[in-house]
Parts: sequence; C-alpha cells; structure tokens
Amino acid sequence: MRDPATEVEELREDLRRHEHLYYVLDRPEITDAEYDALMRRLQELEGQHPELAAPDSPTQRVGGKPREGFTKVRHTSQMLSLDNALNEAELRDFDRRVRELLGGETFRYVTELKMDGLSMAAHYRGGQFVQAVTRGDGMVGEEVTENARTIRSLPLRVQTGLDAFEVRGETVMNRRAFERLNAEREERGLSRFANPRNAAAGSLRLLEPQVTASRRLDYYTYFLFTEGRPALDSHWQSLDELSRMGFKVNPYRTLAPGVEEVLAFCTEWERRREELPYEIDGVVIKVDSVGQQRLLGYTAKAPRWAIAYKYPARQAVTTVVGIEVQVGRTGALTPVAHLKAVEVGGVTVARATLHNEDEIERLGLEIGDQVVIERSGDVIPKVVRVQEQGSYRKKFRMPSACPVCGGTVVREEGESASRCINTNCSARLKESILHFASRGVMNIDGVGDALVDQLVDRGLVESVADLYSLTLEKLMTLERMGKKSAGNILRNIENSKKNPQPRVLTALGIRFVGERTAVFLAEAFGSMDVIAGAGLEDLQRAEEVGPKVAESIFQFFREPRNRELVERLREAGLQFTYQSTRPKGGALKGLTFVLTGTLPNISREEATQLIETAGGKVSGSVSKKTSFVVAGEDPGSKIVKAQDLGVPVLDEEMLLALLKPT
Ligand code: IVH
Repeated sequence: MRDPATEVEELREDLRRHEHLYYVLDRPEITDAEYDALMRRLQELEGQHPELAAPDSPTQRVGGKPREGFTKVRHTSQMLSLDNALNEAELRDFDRRVRELLGGETFRYVTELKMDGLSMAAHYRGGQFVQAVTRGDGMVGEEVTENARTIRSLPLRVQTGLDAFEVRGETVMNRRAFERLNAEREERGLSRFANPRNAAAGSLRLLEPQVTASRRLDYYTYFLFTEGRPALDSHWQSLDELSRMGFKVNPYRTLAPGVEEVLAFCTEWERRREELPYEIDGVVIKVDSVGQQRLLGYTAKAPRWAIAYKYPARQAVTTVVGIEVQVGRTGALTPVAHLKAVEVGGVTVARATLHNEDEIERLGLEIGDQVVIERSGDVIPKVVRVQEQGSYRKKFRMPSACPVCGGTVVREEGESASRCINTNCSARLKESILHFASRGVMNIDGVGDALVDQLVDRGLVESVADLYSLTLEKLMTLERMGKKSAGNILRNIENSKKNPQPRVLTALGIRFVGERTAVFLAEAFGSMDVIAGAGLEDLQRAEEVGPKVAESIFQFFREPRNRELVERLREAGLQFTYQSTRPKGGALKGLTFVLTGTLPNISREEATQLIETAGGKVSGSVSKKTSFVVAGEDPGSKIVKAQDLGVPVLDEEMLLALLKPT
C-alpha cells in the first residue's frame, strides 16, 4: 500500500496546479470529472487520516485567487460553495441529515437547475445597479461592474421598496454564443475555450467591457439579500420576488415536499438537459425556510441546508475506427475521428473533432485506439484522451493532396493547420458560401448544406457572387425545389443586400476578420474601397488590427480573384460604405487637441481626421480645456498660450505615438 502522507502531498500539488490553470489562467488541462475525482480522493484520505489535515489544503478552499488588474472587493457575507451528491444514495444521506437536524419539523426543498457558469454578486442602491463582484475565493472577489453592465439580462434599474439590496446568481454563456465565439476565435488564430463556463469566466474578467458586451453573457439570479442576509424568509418566495423585480430567474424550479420529488426533478432534467440553451451540470437543492437554514448552519466550507446533485460528466469510451479530413472555407484541413457509435448523455455520437495534427500527436492517438470522448458545450464532442491502445493500430498522416480537389496541401511555419491552397477547391467554395449566408453574416435563410451542395455540384454557383444572379428557373431545376421555396430563397438573397457594410466585409471570409474586426475596420476607414486600398501600416490604425491581421487583409485584396469578387458584389448592389453609429470612443476619447504650425509629414486635415477617428476633438483655440497642443514648424502664438496655461505641447511623432494601437 502507498504511504498516505505521500499520496496526500502529491494530490495537493496536483490540485493546486490544476486550480491555477483553471481559476487563474482559464486554461484547464484536465476535465472537471478528472479534477473532481482527484479532489474526492484527497477528501477521502484527509477524512481517514485527520493527522494529515492542513489549513492550506485545496479541500479547505472555496475558489481561486482574484487576478491582478481588478479591484478586490470584500463580499457582504461569504459566497459559499456547495457540497456535492454524486448519486441517489448521497442525496438520500443529505436528506437524512437534514431531517435529523430539524428533529421532525416539517420542511420543504426548493430544487433549481445548477447552471454551469460562474457566480457573481450584483449590488443595487436606490433601485440602481451600482456594483458587480465575482465570487473570487468566496470572501473577496473582483469588481467587474462595467463588464456586468453589458449583460443584457442584468437590470440596471429596478422598481422596489428596498433601499439597498444585493442579488447573487450565475453568469453563463449559452451554447450558441459559445459556438460563435469559438468559431470566431479559430478564424482569428486564437485558441478555443474548452467549455461555456470557461468562456463566461474569461469574458467577465476582460479588461475591456466592449469585448465583454460582444460575448453575450447571461445572468440568472438565485439569491436576494439585504445586508448580506436573505431578504425574505422563504427561498421560494425570494425567487418569485426576484423574478417580479425583473431579474432573470431560471423558470425550471419546484417546491418539493420531500426527497422523492427532488429525485424525480433530478432525473427529469438529466434526461432533458439537451433541450436547454445553456449547460447545466446538476441540480441545486435548498431547504426553503431561511429560519430552518439558520438552524442547520454550516460546515467549514458549505451550508448544511443545501447540496448540489451533480450529473455525471458526459463522457464515454469508444473506438476510433477512422480519421476523415474535412476542408474548411480557408482551405484548412481538419481531422475528424469516426467513432464506433456510442451514447453520451442521451445523444448518439459517431464523430469527434481532432482539430489538427498537433492535437493528434498530443493525444498519442492512432486509428484503432479506445478513447474517452466528452461533450462539454460543443456540438461536436472532443477526444479527451486515449484509454487503451488498439491491438491493430494505424498512424494517421495528414494527406499531401486535398481530399476534395487533389490540390496541394501546405503547412506553414508556426501554423497548426494544414491548408489546401487551391482557391477553386469546391469544398472551399461550399464552405465560403455557407459562411457568406450564415446567421450573423449575410443572414440568408434557406441557403444551407443541402442547397449549397447542389448549387456547387451542378455548376450553378462558381463564386459567392453567383448567388445574386440566381433565378427562379435555375433554382427550380434543383431536386425537391418548388416554386414557393425557390421564391423565398430569392427574396432572402435580395434582402441580404441591405446588410450593413461590416457584414459584407465579414462575409468575404478574409482570415482573421470576424464580425468584430470588420466593425473596427469600418469604423476606422468608412468605405470598402479605402480598406481594399489601404497599406499595411494604414490598416493597423483600426482597433485590434495588428501586423498579422493587416497582412491577411492586404493580401486578400491583392489577389485578382478576390478583387473580381468584390467588384461583382458591388455590382449586385451590396453596401460598400459605412456610417458610424457608435459614439466616438478610442485612444483619444475625451481629449481636445489644438493644431498649430506645419507638421513635417501629415497635413492638418489628415491630423484632424486621425484625432477624430480615435475619438478626440480638434479645436481652434487654446484654453484651460485643451489637453494637448500639437505644434509643427512656425507655430505662432498658440504655443505661447499653451505654455502660459501649462498645456503640454506635442510634436507630430508624439501625436502618432498616441494614436498607435496598444
Ligand atoms: S447556490 C450557498 N444555486 O454552483 C449556496 N448555486 O457548487 C451557494 N450554481 O458556486 C450557491 N446554479 O456557481 C446555487 N441555482 C443555483 C446555482 C448555483 C449554479 C453554481 C454556483 C455555485 C456552485 C456551487
């Protein structure tokens, strides 16, 4: 047998590392299920050997350290975690303890879905939202007020008789937002988030609220507090009250008279969890009466009046029978594992993504191996690890020719993806059309997989722009296409012409240019033609456009085929100009400049435009309100006035430095 002291120490080391990866860096290396198993083993050993207890053991801690860069705020009362029940027996144990401690009193349970996000407190004063704080380590959290403000389901003003109150609840990202975010990140060459919870956590802790806003977070409340304590005596009533006040409260909840009803709720939602637009990882069960909660009290880290019934991780073991290679719109080749069909959490799974060659290498995977697969928010499950090597195994090799068109495949230095470089590859064309028509891009309903396959295979569409020259006659030559659906599709295509310019820019499918970057480009340059003609340096004036993105945009518009596509889209009548709707914001927001003298390289008009694009103002005369005077040759009296008033004077170089994206 192993020495328990050594095993305990090793487990603690391991858990601390994984906690750091998970809570601080948002980059977990193991699944939650694996983490839970380590934690339970440690709890078990510490229970068996009380002499090994230590105040700094991961079992003694509620969460992770707040990150540098945010103000730390102490919670009005500790934000506790919950003990877990992993099966029916453990839930019945919990119920028995509650009944014993309440000595025969009648009581009720409230059951709620356990949404898989991160908890956050929101404070209100005089009916107004004033502050939001993440859970942090339970005692002290991070102030994320400005980020929380961007969450649409968090009311900023509430009608209530309460002078000051606090709500606590869960910040989540629903699956659609999660998938969209990951798709956009992949497109920009960034790593994917492992699951919606990590994505929500990462999004709430961003330093830029604007980015958080684009992440579409959601907030569900489950506590209403005044002065750090429940505001009402019944938890069930507080949920109703919260809902009445305008907060989002999960509608799937019950007031249960006993453990049987609680179990029925748990079973029902384990079966139905796929119906929900967000991930749940279990059910939270709370004693309804706050008076009784008080009687039951707390252990060192969790209340005795509540428990989390955790669903098993949606993992399964199966065999990889083959690896297929798919071609995406940028030509990227993605290996996809074909699996012996297996059921995971009520869904039959036959494929799992392997992302790229490096991932296969990392997993040490070969065809024929038994693998653990997991579904965690993604539609396509992923391979977690190799469980057992197959007796007949075959190594996977990335093909050197495109499996669709036979074109050359290259893997550039520093890239994880191999790509088919034939721009006429039909797989690339199909993916480009699907991207063009997709929701959030040109939004053309009806242009899905089946239609695009036919359009391309029959040669009706050879370029995305051909969509705009489709006719009723052409469409009606397709299988199962009636006059009515053909008419609808044509109308949807016609309507797509009204999409604003950033959508058109996104639709072009330039690498690294997703919805966000497209808006920044439009904000910075206004028209498609200016973007198409901009130089590498120029392009980097747009927010978030660095050398890599600029290079990609620049190259795109140098390619004659792309130029032709752009021209045809212009002829079709798509929007090529852009009127900013955003209030000016940017590097120079709130600053006023006065220009004087002749600048060495840029004209006064150019300087004015640059300053205004970055959100600054340009004024004709120097006053106390002037932030900076920008002086060139022969500056005249303005510089004297600036010196009198103590206004700092910049030269052209300093101005340009201020404008550089950080
Ligand atoms: S109550 C003292 N209710 O699960 C009670 N938590 O494992 C503390 N969660 O930290 C939490 N849905 O992040 C509660 N309806 C719900 C919940 C919920 C999700 C999360 C929350 C908490 C964790 C506890």
